[in-house]
Amino acid sequence: MFLRVISTLGVALTSWVHCSSMNRTYTNPVLPGWNSDPSCAFVQEWDNTFFCTTSSFLAFPGAPVFASKDLTNWKLASYALNRVDQVPELLNNGQQSEGIWASTIRYRNGTFYLITSYISFAVWEPKLLLFTTTDPFDNNAWSDPVRVENPANDIDPDIFWDDDGKTYMAIAAGIYISEIDVTTGAATEPFRVWNGTGDRNPEGPHLYKKDGYYYLLIGEGGTETNHSATIARSRDIHGPYEGYTKNPVLTAKNTDRYFQTVGHADLFQDGDGNWWAVALSTRSGPDWEVYPMGRETVLVPVTWEEGGWPVADVVRGRMSGPLPPQNKDIKGGGPFVDVPDMIDFPPNSSIPRQLLFWRPPKTSLFAVSSPGHPNTLCISPSRFNLTAGDNFQPAQDGLGFIARKQTASIFEYSVDVSFKPSAVDEEAGVSVFLTQLQHIDLGIINLATNGTLTPTLRFRIEASGKPNVTVPDMKVVPIPDSWQNQTIRLSVKATEGSMYTLSAASTSNPQESINMGSASALIVSGGSGPFTGTLVGAYATSNGGNGSTPAYFSRWRYTPLAQEISEGEYVRV
Ligand SMILES: *[C@@H]1O[C@H](CO)[C@@H](O)[C@H](O)[C@H]1NC(C)=O
Ligand SMILES: *[C@@H]1O[C@H](CO)[C@@H](O)[C@H](O)[C@H]1NC(C)=O
Ligand SMILES: *[C@@H]1O[C@H](CO)[C@@H](O)[C@H](O)[C@H]1NC(C)=O
Ligand SMILES: *[C@@H]1O[C@H](CO)[C@@H](O)[C@H](O)[C@H]1NC(C)=O
Ligand SMILES: *[C@@H]1O[C@H](CO)[C@@H](O)[C@H](O)[C@H]1NC(C)=O
Ligand SMILES: *[C@@H]1O[C@H](CO)[C@@H](O)[C@H](O)[C@H]1NC(C)=O
Ligand SMILES: *[C@@H]1O[C@H](CO)[C@@H](O)[C@H](O)[C@H]1NC(C)=O
Ligand SMILES: *[C@@H]1O[C@H](CO)[C@@H](O)[C@H](O)[C@H]1NC(C)=O
Ligand SMILES: *[C@@H]1O[C@H](CO)[C@@H](O)[C@H](O)[C@H]1NC(C)=O
Ligand SMILES: *[C@@H]1O[C@H](CO)[C@@H](O)[C@H](O)[C@H]1NC(C)=O
Repeated sequence: MFLRVISTLGVALTSWVHCSSMNRTYTNPVLPGWNSDPSCAFVQEWDNTFFCTTSSFLAFPGAPVFASKDLTNWKLASYALNRVDQVPELLNNGQQSEGIWASTIRYRNGTFYLITSYISFAVWEPKLLLFTTTDPFDNNAWSDPVRVENPANDIDPDIFWDDDGKTYMAIAAGIYISEIDVTTGAATEPFRVWNGTGDRNPEGPHLYKKDGYYYLLIGEGGTETNHSATIARSRDIHGPYEGYTKNPVLTAKNTDRYFQTVGHADLFQDGDGNWWAVALSTRSGPDWEVYPMGRETVLVPVTWEEGGWPVADVVRGRMSGPLPPQNKDIKGGGPFVDVPDMIDFPPNSSIPRQLLFWRPPKTSLFAVSSPGHPNTLCISPSRFNLTAGDNFQPAQDGLGFIARKQTASIFEYSVDVSFKPSAVDEEAGVSVFLTQLQHIDLGIINLATNGTLTPTLRFRIEASGKPNVTVPDMKVVPIPDSWQNQTIRLSVKATEGSMYTLSAASTSNPQESINMGSASALIVSGGSGPFTGTLVGAYATSNGGNGSTPAYFSRWRYTPLAQEISEGEYVRV
């Protein structure tokens, strides 16, 4: 009797586990940290893997591709843009929000296509770039981009194949569609298909074909708090398009939700036929003031019945949906997006994949385990500091800065520095960096004090990109005598309430640290970086002087600790 109950239960449980409609819980964002304008595709031929890409602006390498089998564990698979000659324009000294904007990723007949645009504000002539690969786990396999004609002279290209094999590109603003040739980049005169529901900035289009309709999903309202995703459909790709009467499909506008700015979405189907949407969202509600991580990628389940319209769940921190079974067996050498960094820069290793430069780097400034300095990253000083300025020539001068995305609300970052400056104002340190005009720095700087050069700890904030914000004063502390000749550990802690605390310690006695200052994440929210998100990393500069003393960074640690998933509610990572 007892045994029969057990076995009946066993059978019931087994069939339940295998039922694809069983829901699991997960938390948003699924791609935490600066990951806006997500676009994703499910590729059965690549062992049932989902691939997503997000916008990278000036970060290099750019156009990242993430891979997952369960929609919650995401691995950094590759960067479509990983060689400066693919997009030399990235070396322009323009505004801080220029660069690679929203992309679309799709798979067709053995090839991955990633279409995106490069933007410069000096001249409004967005360059459309179509990258392809047959191996999304290998940077080198990504092609040089085909430069696609841009008759609409706008942004946010989509790529879509019709059943007859024709390739179309939808594009902002007020949505246009052209037929394109993926080999030559030729584009036909575009036809205008939909202006959205009437909000400003109809953009970020994606086309789908389902049940005999062409569906056009777009973003509207601007990427701030009025953002939304809306949809229209037509039996003919040329239109007329009929808007969904219950638009928007996704939004957080006029709500006091924690997940604000929801919009710019993409739709895709998993291997069991369930529909999903990804969108960008800013964890900042309801005030939308403090959001150092900028616009992140969220995931919601969607129901989309035959002949009907997609209905998406509300974006929240705690979600439930018919996720594929948990599976971290993903190809490639990149890290999962939410794991700690424990980087020791061993000899003959390369710079880890999650580390980024601000624009393509001057590679001569960086060396892993240079002769006589094993297990370090050597950064030679750039003449310009992190703020750089108008005379800065990115290709020639370079910026001695390398960083990773802040991916958690609460984290600890530290790195050990060995630095023996000789010239005045030579500096090496750590930075919480949104843009060149908004960064919070703790450096060791060789200050001329009373006629003597003294290596000094300096906490200093650049906030010219965010006027009207009160910033804490600069603080300088002479390096204690007992620390001489030792490596110094510089640390950043992000704590509850979106504060950063920066401190320094001798590595021989890391417990006895000097608290150098605290600053609100408000300083690295919006302003000159309204579309980007915060990085945390290390720098070396001669501050315009004659110094050339390199700094040796070792024991790079970044530990994500907790995510805020609703106002004041944190979950451990
Ligand atoms: C798919 O790719 C193969 C091999 O490259 C090619 O022969 C075939 O024509 C392609 N099919 C379509 C529908 O494009
Ligand atoms: C979109 O707006 C433009 C400018 O107002 C107008 O010329 C065009 O006809 C509109 N297109 C559609 C498809 O509504
Ligand atoms: C949002 O829309 C409202 C109503 O149209 C408008 O008053 C407000 O300025 C908009 N806000 C932003 C940030 O665009
Ligand atoms: C699973 O989640 C989906 C999407 O939220 C929902 O529509 C469905 O009712 C849920 N199913 C169960 C069995 O809870
Ligand atoms: C690093 O590579 C060089 C040349 O490939 C080799 O001679 C050397 O032994 C390697 N060192 C280590 C520590 O692996
Ligand atoms: C510099 O000299 C002034 C005047 O002698 C003295 O008060 C001050 O403490 C000195 N500063 C440092 C950092 O030694
Ligand atoms: C800063 O404050 C001044 C005076 O209140 C105002 O005119 C200006 O628009 C503000 N700037 C920003 C970027 O908010
Ligand atoms: C630091 O090293 C230098 C040269 O190696 C030495 O002259 C000096 O005495 C050392 N200072 C301390 C405090 O150990
Ligand atoms: C960067 O360098 C410029 C010019 O050398 C200087 O005016 C500015 O204060 C420096 N900024 C920081 C944050 O050190
Ligand atoms: C840099 O070197 C030049 C030539 O030796 C000298 O004239 C100049 O004063 C130096 N600049 C600084 C900031 O030390």
